[in-house]
Amino acid sequence: MTASIPDEVEYLNLDPLRIRIEAHRLYSEIPEDVEDDVIRLVGLRPGDSVLDVGSGTGSFLARIRAGGHSGRLVALDASPAAVAAAAGAADEAVLGSATALPFTDGEFTVVTARHMLYHVDDPGGAVAEARRVLTTGGRFAATVNHHEAYPQIRGILREQVAAAGLDMPVLPSTRVHSGNLPEIVAAEFGDVEVHRHDNALVYDEPEGVIRFALANLAFYGVSADTPQRPQIAASVAAAVRQRFEALTGPWREPKGYVVCTARRG
Ligand SMILES: C[S@@+](CC[C@H](N)C(=O)[O-])C[C@H]1O[C@@H](n2cnc3c(N)ncnc32)[C@H](O)[C@@H]1O
Repeated sequence: MTASIPDEVEYLNLDPLRIRIEAHRLYSEIPEDVEDDVIRLVGLRPGDSVLDVGSGTGSFLARIRAGGHSGRLVALDASPAAVAAAAGAADEAVLGSATALPFTDGEFTVVTARHMLYHVDDPGGAVAEARRVLTTGGRFAATVNHHEAYPQIRGILREQVAAAGLDMPVLPSTRVHSGNLPEIVAAEFGDVEVHRHDNALVYDEPEGVIRFALANLAFYGVSADTPQRPQIAASVAAAVRQRFEALTGPWREPKGYVVCTARRG
């Protein structure tokens, strides 16, 4: 029997993703804007035809459109909820897989894959597909998180999931991360530029930590309908509050990401 994949990992429900995005906006030690970084580093021009692979909430293309972009904007995601979310912002919102893009060779001048390659079984295959659908001279940008991000929150989640007797799946970020993304992109494109961003989440009160921790539970094999979820959520919250009481300053979680950019020769 195959184990079922939690809904949040499949992104059938985008709420946990929205909570995580909001946490980065509210609690980053150095204000950060990944979407803006990608737009700048990929050298977006108003007439570019853009494919955003793993489009999530659709906010990236919405923002590009709001900036007056005149070229074609296409969102692709494996989740119907994400396709619905991007429908208003993109010219086309397509249900599909990063490893089998339903587009012909050379259709786009820009392809982006933001914080999604760690969910793909064959990340190199997804990067090869991105290259295939680019024009000669077309630009690619991918982002992923640091492998070692959020060490305390990870530790608490691991402990509480294990205490409930559940097996932990392999975390997506252990497959593709800042350390190995450059070589994955270089294997398909040749030259790659790496832009590293080091930062931290900083909290003055426990509730924000708890909200962020619980929005990561699906990656630890705990979905909305896992019977042990209420118990695990309560013990995660208790562990965070207890650790907070022992702190003499704010709660600081190192984190960061890389943006890798490349050009189809
Ligand atoms: C962490 S979210 C990132 C969303 C968005 N790019 C962002 O940065 O906010 C990962 C997204 O990738 C999508 N995804 C996962 N596997 C995929 C695949 N094989 N092909 C296309 N999209 C996929 C998920 O449905 C989800 O919307």
